[in-house]
Amino acid sequence: MPRFAYVNGRYVPHPDAAVHIEDRGYQFADGVYEVVPVQNGRMIDEEPHLDRLDYSLRELRIAWPMSRAALKLVLRELTRRNGLTNGLVYLQVTRGVAPRDHKFPKAAKPALVVTTKRMNPTPAALVERGVRVIAVPDIRWKRCDIKSVSLLPNVLGKQKAAEAGAFEAWQVDAEGFVTEGTSTNAWIVTSDGALVTRNADAAILNGITRQAVIRLTNEVGVAFEERPFSLAEAKAAREAFLTSSSGHVLPITRIDDAVVGDGKPGPVTKRLRAAYLGYVAA
Ligand code: PDD
Repeated sequence: MPRFAYVNGRYVPHPDAAVHIEDRGYQFADGVYEVVPVQNGRMIDEEPHLDRLDYSLRELRIAWPMSRAALKLVLRELTRRNGLTNGLVYLQVTRGVAPRDHKFPKAAKPALVVTTKRMNPTPAALVERGVRVIAVPDIRWKRCDIKSVSLLPNVLGKQKAAEAGAFEAWQVDAEGFVTEGTSTNAWIVTSDGALVTRNADAAILNGITRQAVIRLTNEVGVAFEERPFSLAEAKAAREAFLTSSSGHVLPITRIDDAVVGDGKPGPVTKRLRAAYLGYVAA
């Protein structure tokens, strides 16, 4: 357990950390969040994460709970107090505390909660063997570009994956296209060798890891396409992998019962993983 959490202006012992029952995050999922990875005591891609927080807040017309500079100080101070070297900083902003009424409250102040979580490196076996994903229907709303705390479909998808012994669930839209995982972005190397990830429309969260990996694609010397791909195309692909702040670049070797490629993590995936790990270590 971490020692402290930051809750609306105070660093409180983690076991005592609580928010009001009328917080609109609790009542309506009226809030947004960010997860910033910490590696060797450094926050990775902090600015892009705060840019995405700004985007999510703007889209929902929630004000920043404090200035960006002040928020950065809070993230650093909590990381320091909790002695976090490797893990994740979680921050959540809701529209605030107000008597329950769907309309925006006139006077509420945005509420801010920050917590930290230690994280061990991804087990070597997962990286070496690759993981399995299952396909589930994408039952989410039409603004998945906003990092909203409303995660019920994601929770159900991840639970279904866990019960199937899989690592992640790939959500599939009504047209048969893969949108993304429940907490990860989805990538394939097609049967003719193109690296593909879905374009960042409102159907997916534009992952910060996704964006970093896109910047690294020129290092692997393959054609790169940002476009939707179908579940069928993914099952026939040479390689598949997922990206996220916690998993980095993780090979996928099975989709439902289909073996991807030769069933082993592929060369493009391996090169991108190495390139990304080099980027975060730099
Ligand atoms: N999840 N897609 C969804 C739906 C996500 O929730 C996430 C992140 C990603 C990957 O984004 P990034 O590369 O910025 O981590 C894609 C975080 C880690 C979470 O919910 O814990």
